[in-house]
Parts: sequence; C-alpha cells; structure tokens
Amino acid sequence: MAPVGPEAAALLAALHAEAFAPADRWSAQAIGLLVALPGHFALLGVVGGEPAGFALGRVAAGEAEVLTLAVRPAARRTGCGAALMRALMAEAANRGAREMFLEVSAQNAPARALYAGLGAAEAGRRRRYYPDGSDALVLRLPLSPCGAAPGA
Ligand SMILES: CC(C)(COP(=O)(O)OP(=O)(O)OC[C@H]1O[C@@H](n2cnc3c(N)ncnc32)[C@H](O)[C@@H]1OP(=O)(O)O)[C@@H](O)C(=O)NCCC(=O)NCCS
Repeated sequence: MAPVGPEAAALLAALHAEAFAPADRWSAQAIGLLVALPGHFALLGVVGGEPAGFALGRVAAGEAEVLTLAVRPAARRTGCGAALMRALMAEAANRGAREMFLEVSAQNAPARALYAGLGAAEAGRRRRYYPDGSDALVLRLPLSPCGAAPGA
C-alpha cells in the first residue's frame, strides 16, 4: 500500500468511477482537495503492477474516519479491499487514533462482509440516508495502539 497525495487525484478519481455508480462518483478536484486537507491521507493498492483501488481516511482528535474505499471490479475478491482497510487502520493508529468509524449502506453486502471480517461493530443507523432510500449503518472499528489492525 503506497501513500499518495493530491498529485494522484486523477488516478484516484478514475478508480472511484470504476467502483461506484455514476451518481456516487467523486471528481478529481474533490478528491484532490480532500487529500490535501490536514489529517487526511490516501493509500493506493496495486495488483500485478496496476493500480487496483484506494482508501481515503482522516484522523482528528484521536478518532479516525473512512471517507471512501474503492476497488476496481477486475481486482475484487483478491484481498485488495481488506489489505487497504488494514493499512488505513494501521496508518490511523500511527496518527494517534484509537477507533475508526465509517458509514456503509445496509444494502452493500460485499462491504459489510469485509468490515465484519475486520471486527467492525454497528454503532448507529441513519434511516433512509442514501438517495435510494437505504439506511446507512455507522460502524466502529477498534484500532490497536501499536498500529496494527486486530487480527493482522
Ligand atoms: C467492498 C469492496 C471494497 C471490497 O473489495 P475487495 O477487494 O473485493 O475485497 P476483498 O477481496 O479484500 O474481500 C475481503 C472479504 O470481504 C468479503 N467480501 C468482499 N466482496 C464480497 C462479495 N462480493 N460478497 C460477499 N463477501 C464479500 C469477504 O468476506 C472477503 O473475504 P474472502 O474473499 O476471503 O471471502 C469492493 O467490492 C468495492 O470497491 N465495492 C464498491 C465500492 C464500495 O462499496 N465501497 C465501500 C463503501 S462503504
């Protein structure tokens, strides 16, 4: 997993566009602005020498948040998403966070399975949060003080 900065915004936006439906895609400009903000960080996953996905997170006041996680369809089920999440958790812990939060659609079975495998627990639910009417689950991941994801 390689840390990347705003200079990688176009690549990250292309990966995001492959992973999400058109209405949910983020522009290169938006990603570039996010990555440049204090406390924000992006990690790029590479499979077979090709960019396969990325994760974007932030840490503030001892708490971390996953802003997005995207893996290209062609690279899925190879462990890339889980590896990106573990690296994001380790980076957040190294930056002083003790827990990490994220939102996921109740209907997003692949992502929910991935997060459950990392030890995520439901911390809340936002009813009809997404445009398709689905609920958002707020999940909490505990972070190990030594910077490693539990079970890594
Ligand atoms: C969710 C996503 C990041 C998973 O990426 P991935 O690289 O395929 O995930 P991994 O290969 O690391 O899978 C890890 C585990 O997650 C679970 N999982 C992943 N995809 C799954 C699927 N389609 N169905 C069921 N379980 C799945 C499995 O438990 C899997 O372990 P296994 O392969 O040993 O069974 C990817 O599907 C994606 O980019 N989806 C679109 C964007 C998205 O939903 N992002 C998350 C928003 S909160």
